[in-house]
Amino acid sequence: MLVLGIESSCDETAAAVVRDGREVLSSAIHTQIALHAPHGGVVPEIASRSHIEKIPSVLRKALDDAKVSFSDIDAVAATYGPGLASSLLVGFSAAKGIAAAIDKPLIAINHVEAHIYSAFLSQSAPPITEALPLLSLVVSGGHSAIVRTGADRVPHILGQTLDDAAGEAFDKASKMLGLGYPGGPAIQKAADAAANHGKGISFPKGRISGDNPSLGSLTADFCFSFSGLKTSLRNYIQKHPVESEADRDEIAAAYQDAIVNALADRCALALSRGRYAGFSAGGGVSLNSALRARLAEVAAKAHVPLFLPEPRFCGDNAAMIAALAGSGIGIQPPESWALDASPNLTF
Ligand code: KG4
Ligand code: ZN
Repeated sequence: MLVLGIESSCDETAAAVVRDGREVLSSAIHTQIALHAPHGGVVPEIASRSHIEKIPSVLRKALDDAKVSFSDIDAVAATYGPGLASSLLVGFSAAKGIAAAIDKPLIAINHVEAHIYSAFLSQSAPPITEALPLLSLVVSGGHSAIVRTGADRVPHILGQTLDDAAGEAFDKASKMLGLGYPGGPAIQKAADAAANHGKGISFPKGRISGDNPSLGSLTADFCFSFSGLKTSLRNYIQKHPVESEADRDEIAAAYQDAIVNALADRCALALSRGRYAGFSAGGGVSLNSALRARLAEVAAKAHVPLFLPEPRFCGDNAAMIAALAGSGIGIQPPESWALDASPNLTF
């Protein structure tokens, strides 16, 4: 089964062709980073206008790279949420139009569920069904969640951020430190250059009390809060002005450590409280090398195999969309033709 996938939930316009949920024949991505960088973050209207402009050429490239044409495609899959409403509408509408024109099924995909699946796109990874029950950490600019996928093959959120996402925490800190957008890679680079690894600077762990009203049915121990971390960085910089690149690098290292430890500690706890056959990560922040190293330690200690996506499948891409659609696992998508974009979609 050959699936054409389309992704446009935030600031990447992407299309991909994937065979049978595993074999990536092409993965074309146009990133809008250069358009949003001067604003220090994603501007929704700029994003949707750029999606409209770029989606035809990205689709063309995905088909050409895969050496197929529209008539070879068996189904069209697209992200319908969560994400920016005006961005989602572009990709999802394009998918509806294409599926109608070639008279093939339309498969609506949950973006967060696709990030979970992204670790199983590598030829070296086993099929996801062999890693169930699976614990996944999904960390990007818009989401931070710990998810359990059990034998029923349906994801359940165990914990998530109650305020900022991990990527947002990187992006906001980077702005404060004058390191630019996107913040994750910039903070990582500064942290790597820190001679003292941020020792002597400490930021709060962001623990959440069990009576926090935002928790709902979630367990406090598996949830995150990053807005306090951002405030403590602002306070730290006010008290200890950044006077050199070396100062800045040390702060970046301590800040990165705080995020990485918050994420890894929650995962370690979740692994210790359940039975798991696999542990995975996904989303743009899963590119972070300090996080990847810490997750490897956590997995080794818990004796659970770790599956990390290839770098090209960490950030937003359409291969994970087409692959999940073709895998036959996961949430049974609702009847797609009548669906609207769903910015706050959850599961
Ligand atoms: O998954 P993604 O491309 O888009 C969303 O769905 O949000 O993630 C983008 C986020 C940004 O916040 C960016 O700063 C972060 O991923 N990111 C990183 C790294 N590379 C990208 N965060 C930490 N370390 C990195 N190396
Ligand atoms: Zn994403």
